[in-house]
Order: sequence, then C-alpha cells, then structure tokens
Amino acid sequence: MHVAIIMDGNGRWAMQRGLPRMAGHRAGARAVRKVVEAAVRSQVDTLTLYAFSADNWSRPRCEVDSLMRLFKQYLQSEAARCVEQNIRVNIIGRRDRLNAALVHLIEHTEAVTRHCTKLTLQIAIDYSGRDVIRRACLAIAGECMEAIERTASVSTDYVAEQIAQAMGASRCANVDLLIRTGGEKRLSDFLLWESAYAELVFVEHGWPEFSEADFEAALREFRRRDRRFGTVPSPTSQQEETA
Ligand code: FPP
Repeated sequence: MHVAIIMDGNGRWAMQRGLPRMAGHRAGARAVRKVVEAAVRSQVDTLTLYAFSADNWSRPRCEVDSLMRLFKQYLQSEAARCVEQNIRVNIIGRRDRLNAALVHLIEHTEAVTRHCTKLTLQIAIDYSGRDVIRRACLAIAGECMEAIERTASVSTDYVAEQIAQAMGASRCANVDLLIRTGGEKRLSDFLLWESAYAELVFVEHGWPEFSEADFEAALREFRRRDRRFGTVPSPTSQQEETA
C-alpha cells in the first residue's frame, strides 16, 4: 500500500490566522509527525510526502531558505525516532541544487534507517515528475545510441528493456492512494508516472489541520473504491448488477 500526499494549504492556513506563511509550514511539520505515526499504525508500506517541488524555487528567497532550514531540523530531530520506530527514510528528487549540509543530513538519515522495514517514508524535495521522466528518456536514448553503434540496429525488446531499467532506477512504487489537502484538485507534477491508477482523495482544509482521523478516513474511502485498472467488473459483481 503506497499513500502519497500533496501537503497543500500551509500558507493560507497561516494567513487566515494573521500569521506569517512560515508559521503554516512549521505547523505543517507537526502534522507530518502525526501522519507518519498514523501510517505506521495503519500498516501502510510506503508514505510519500511532497515537501518541495522543482517549481517551488520560484518562491521568495526567505521562504525557500526557511523551508530548507525546516527540512534540516526535521531530519536532525527525526532520524533517531525513525530508527526506533523501524521507519526507513528515503529522499526523492534532485540533490544537486540543495545545500551541502542538507545533502549530508539526507545521506546520514538514509544510511542510519537503511535497515528499517516497518514503513518507507519518502520525502520529495526539489522533485518534478516530468523531470524524472525526461531523465529516463535521456538515459534510454543514450543506451539505444550505444546499441546502434555496436550492432547497427535495436530491437523493440531491447528498447522495452531499457525503458523498464531507466524508469525502475528512478521511480518508486505505484501509488495506490493520493491525498491532496488545501482544496485544490490537481497533481502539480507529483509522481506522474506512479499515479497512473492512483485513487484520488481531496481534502478541503489545509495541511496543518490534517489529522490522524483524516488520514484514517481517506484510507476508509480508498477501501470503498472499486479499482478495475481498465478491466470490467468481476462476473459476480456483474451478476449482482443485473439481478
Ligand atoms: C504547500 O503549501 C506546502 C509546501 C510548499 C511546503 C510543504 C512543507 C511542509 C509541510 C513542511 C514540513 C515538511 C517536512 C517534510 C518536514 P503552500 O505554502 O503552497 O500553501 P498555500 O497554497 O496555502 O500558499
């Protein structure tokens, strides 16, 4: 079970309370802790949180800097707790534009939680779903060019194998349930490939107010959905429909 969350509405939550936007992000970090615990209790295998998109670099400099500091504080304070709770931490997205201290903390947290098996907590920082696909295409093109130089042709099987390898190296598991808070209804370049058959749940209130009960309600909603993956309903449910 892979649950992905677009944690939207921090800024609006803060503004509605006459607070600076950063207060919304700090409250958002507190909500992250609660939802991670709820995911462990609900036996979710992978939880992926959208913390910073590649397009978020265009926000005011002070907000970007404060968010980066918040990610550092989170990793510093949570690494030991994740080991205790058997949570593996994995950061997805580009690292070449992050500052060296944050990259160091990411590598440290990933290393100390590498053996953990209860939940995989993925945090997307400087992430773009389109960029992941674009990079996979470049890798495939490079491999195929080399193959053409070696053998003067490439078979469709070879191309299919390269696609599987390139996407496999950079993508995570298929998303089962995608939750977005904050009232908007869009994907915002998040896990585009992996969300092909994700069930979508939209929550009106902002991320800082998202509670364990909301998380459990989204899981209940997911379990009520009929996932057909493009096929027709099973013969028993068809019979029930015509009866
Ligand atoms: C979107 O809300 C939220 C973000 C761009 C940042 C998400 C970051 C956190 C929840 C902080 C903590 C995260 C971790 C992993 C420790 P917005 O600011 O776009 O809200 P708005 O649409 O109301 O302006």
